[in-house]
Amino acid sequence: MVSYEVYKIIHVLGIMILFLSIGALFYTAFNKIQLDKKQKRPWLIMHGVSLFLILLGGFGLLARIGISGGFPTWVWLKIIIWGIFGGLIMLIIKLPQISKVLYLLTIILGFFAIYIANYKPFL
Ligand code: HEM
Repeated sequence: MVSYEVYKIIHVLGIMILFLSIGALFYTAFNKIQLDKKQKRPWLIMHGVSLFLILLGGFGLLARIGISGGFPTWVWLKIIIWGIFGGLIMLIIKLPQISKVLYLLTIILGFFAIYIANYKPFL
């Protein structure tokens, strides 16, 4: 049986990879660097891998803390944040002119995800 700790490692590792891949694309957007398909690919793949790891770890953690079906509000909020992080990558690529706003949004969203995980507001 996969332990709570292992799921947490998977979850946090996914989060690290998420911010690495988003960070690289922010760098190119800020500096107006045009990446071709081949150059973008590894970052997009790692972004996908990160979302998968976060989801796997997240739902594994939920099972280990005894939440299955009928999710509390804080879980729905995290799922929404996860979805926004999923769409964000395309926004950074398609709308580099608003990348500074998106950068701020990324930090704020990250903050909320950590806050929600720790304080579980609205139960
Ligand atoms: C489907 C989406 C997600 C689900 C179901 C989920 C679920 C969880 C659960 C159950 C925990 C453990 C809570 C506890 O042990 O009391 C947790 C911890 C955490 N989550 Fe998520 N999460 C999701 C997405 C995210 C995202 C997108 C981020 C950040 C970008 C994130 C950041 C964190 C952090 C920082 C922790 C705390 C880790 C620690 O205590 O060391 N989560 N999450």
